[in-house]
Amino acid sequence: KNLSSICHILETSKPGDVIRVKGWVKSLRDQKENVFVDVSDGSTDRKLQILVPKKSKPGGLATGASIVASGRVTLSPKGQIELSARDISVCGECVVSDGYPFAPRKQYTPEYVRQYLHLRPRTAKFGALLRVRNAATLAVYDHFNREGFINVHTPILTSNDCEGAGEVFKVLPESRSVLRAMLKEGQSDDEVYFDRKSFLTVSGQLHLEAAAHGLSRVYTFGPTFRAENSRSRLHLSEFYMLEAEVAFVDELRAVMECVEKLVKSVTQAVLDKSMEDVERCREKKESSASFSWLDKTFPVMTYREAVGILNDHRDKFREDFSSSKGLGKEHELFLVQHCGGVPTFVIDWPQEMKPFYARANGDGTVAALDLLGPNVGEVAGGSLRENDHVRLGEKLPKNNSHLEWYLELRKFGSVPTGGFGLGFERYLQLILGTSNIKDVIPFPRWPHNCTL
Ligand code: 4AD
Ligand code: MG
Repeated sequence: KNLSSICHILETSKPGDVIRVKGWVKSLRDQKENVFVDVSDGSTDRKLQILVPKKSKPGGLATGASIVASGRVTLSPKGQIELSARDISVCGECVVSDGYPFAPRKQYTPEYVRQYLHLRPRTAKFGALLRVRNAATLAVYDHFNREGFINVHTPILTSNDCEGAGEVFKVLPESRSVLRAMLKEGQSDDEVYFDRKSFLTVSGQLHLEAAAHGLSRVYTFGPTFRAENSRSRLHLSEFYMLEAEVAFVDELRAVMECVEKLVKSVTQAVLDKSMEDVERCREKKESSASFSWLDKTFPVMTYREAVGILNDHRDKFREDFSSSKGLGKEHELFLVQHCGGVPTFVIDWPQEMKPFYARANGDGTVAALDLLGPNVGEVAGGSLRENDHVRLGEKLPKNNSHLEWYLELRKFGSVPTGGFGLGFERYLQLILGTSNIKDVIPFPRWPHNCTL
């Protein structure tokens, strides 16, 4: 911990200690002899109260201003650590009349705060979210490290559309002179730079599979990109995905265990380290005690069983349920409620609903899984991978020359592998009850929104 952070000061300092703090004024109250200033530096949800004698109150000391203060630690009448300032100076004033959008001690809706993405990190709730996101990130690395996985940085620029859904962003050089200089005969502009079309990755899976054929247990955690024309509360154009791949795995059960362990261990670590911040972030307070799924086994049902349950409750849905169209959001959420609000695996999906790489079960279904969670529905997707060279060759997308290397993995020392990808923002929504995905990522990107 930063030795001069407010978090560290509140936890370790004693009356009489001489300290120096830097932070932002959250609110202030004028009393007869002193001004009481609540200051935050983002290291904790708690604020440090600073007592400033009225006669030494500097100009510009107001909500939103940044300050540096030093003095002695004292105890408030309630026994709380506070700072009796000997020196306080304003670094940067904050002129509310110039349009500062946050008034002291006022609650704002997420929609309101989202209009000011650049100022959002200084709000209490979003500060807490960023600390929870940090705690979850560290817990992910810690978990995989303990489980013997090797972290692999898969590329962001790629020539494959792993999911085959055509939701890729194309990458081209902006410079006309580069284009002119590199253009070969017969090439189109969007093939110039890499001699083929290239994209921002939608998933690191195929590269991760290559790494698993050599390192056995691997994972990657980075940004992925999808050009979906969706403005839903659950979709972003850029989101973080956590993907793992394990070799010598030929049962879907093993992949499910991997997902379940990860979700439980990261959640437990976040609750242990950051309960205060989690409480601050949670939108649905009434459900705040509902981490009861932490000590329950995640239920498992086949797609066919899910269809049976949904058909039995047809009258409950706005959107008609049709087994050939797959699960809509309300159907996913219904299944989770049906299983007592515990995250639930749906497995063995019809082949046509999953990408080419999923391994066939031999009955028209593939060994694939979706994990559905409360509040978000699908939070992770995974499968066993088709590892038979011939069968995979038959299933590869048409015009597949760019995937020859992927097929070749099955030629040399092929092993069955399985893996999954978990949407990190969806996971945060799940544990925090956040309704809109744009409120769990620092700078969300979605259609028509990439200004900041
Ligand atoms: O289900 P998906 O498409 O699976 C894959 O990409 C596999 N290649 C992963 C693998 O097996 N290695 O995406 C995985 C997860 C989804 O379950 C969802 O949580 C999240 O990524 N996701 C999104 N999150 C936010 N915005 C979007 N547009 C998302 N699309 C998928
Ligand atoms: Mg999916």
